[in-house]
Amino acid sequence: MPYNYTSGGTAELKLGDATYQLPILVGTEGEKAVDIRKLRAQTGYITLDSGFANTGSCASSITFLDGEHGILSYRGYAIEDLAEHCSFVEVAYLLAHGSLPTRQELTCFSHMLGKYALIHEDMIRFFDGFPANSPPMAILSSMVNSLCSFYPEMLDNPLENIDKMAARLISKVRTIAAFSYKKSMGQPLVYPRHDLSYCANFLNMMFDSPVQPYVINDTVVAALNKLLILHGDHEQNCSTATVRVAGSARVNLYASISAGINALWGPLHGGANQAVMEMLQLIHNEGGNYKKYIERAKDPNDPFRLVGFGHRVYKTHDPRSRIIKKACDDVLAALNIADPLLDIAKELEEVALKDSYFVERHLYPNVDFYSGIIYRAIGIPTNMFTVMFALGRLPGWIAHWKEMWDDPDWRISRPRQVYVGPRRRPFVPLDQRAG
Ligand code: ACO
Repeated sequence: MPYNYTSGGTAELKLGDATYQLPILVGTEGEKAVDIRKLRAQTGYITLDSGFANTGSCASSITFLDGEHGILSYRGYAIEDLAEHCSFVEVAYLLAHGSLPTRQELTCFSHMLGKYALIHEDMIRFFDGFPANSPPMAILSSMVNSLCSFYPEMLDNPLENIDKMAARLISKVRTIAAFSYKKSMGQPLVYPRHDLSYCANFLNMMFDSPVQPYVINDTVVAALNKLLILHGDHEQNCSTATVRVAGSARVNLYASISAGINALWGPLHGGANQAVMEMLQLIHNEGGNYKKYIERAKDPNDPFRLVGFGHRVYKTHDPRSRIIKKACDDVLAALNIADPLLDIAKELEEVALKDSYFVERHLYPNVDFYSGIIYRAIGIPTNMFTVMFALGRLPGWIAHWKEMWDDPDWRISRPRQVYVGPRRRPFVPLDQRAG
């Protein structure tokens, strides 16, 4: 076995008169999997698993998550420790390289981030081609895709150049995000600075202006740092799976990440942080009657869902939301902000956590529930929230792409289906078709 699995014996599958032995593999944290890789060849059967909720698509050594117990770790380190003690740049290095950087490695990586922070001046003209109200996620995915035209050296030996590509992406996506905001505001671009940390540099590019210099606030920088770390990776979520699926066709890193950005855009995934804010604003505009929305969320005939609640994997508190909630309180206190939307969020949380509908279905606040309030407090517009998520998730996407590219078990992703359409039938020429 090329991976660190241990054998858990075999599972027996009976199909008619035949019995098949399927290997059981056990991961390093005790997760068990029935290995069905030879199932179709041996039996002619496939498995059906809509949404892949029971399907392991790869072995991975990046992130461990136990949704039943609310545990999350990157490369073996608890998310709580990383959020408390690390910078986002350290965690990005950890995700991409597998180990925490030494002081010298961190200096070298930070130097690369500084060196690659500019985007080609020709790319800046792209921003002018987008209509004024373009969704920032559309701009981001297009710009990231076009990076491969400007920086093509990685196309031949991607793994040899992965450090450079990772640093380029992590640094340039920050610049692209800030520039897209400045363009949308009709303000002059603020170029990256060599002397600022990753997060402070981003905030400065976003909010500094020739007429109103931006004052960097340490509590805000610390909260952004935490948010990005907490979003760094989350194993095989929708956008990461998309990056791996696209990359499995051996498409380049930039194109794969661009595909991931588009998946993240969806309101059931990364778009939820924006949707939370819109929901809280709606409740506020209607006089703060949050109970009506709780009732709507519970009504089986109403498609409305309480955004920011529930998670495909966590069936208890999302460990990230606890940390974010604390960071949220710190930011609001440091900036002296009283936010009525936060009050509604707290009331919603309190009621939902006691309500049997939410309790029975294990619907707890997820990572998006409080992140939007922090972003709003530090001045990031609602339509940029998902861009912020992408900024945080980028190191995870890169780590997964790299792992997939180097995977000894790699095969192009190509799921099967159960066909339920019309059976084969005779072709009818156009002039003989009824109607
Ligand atoms: N509000 C009300 N009811 C809900 C909610 C919600 N937010 N989430 C799930 N439910 C209900 C479902 O209606 C279903 O009820 P039923 O058993 O009576 O039919 C039950 O809980 C199970 O829900 P599923 O849809 O099976 O859960 P699934 O794992 O497929 O979906 C998801 C997870 C998409 C996150 C869902 O909880 C949801 O839509 N939440 C709101 C959107 C959101 O916050 N997304 C962000 C996720 S975090 C992230 O991507 C970073």
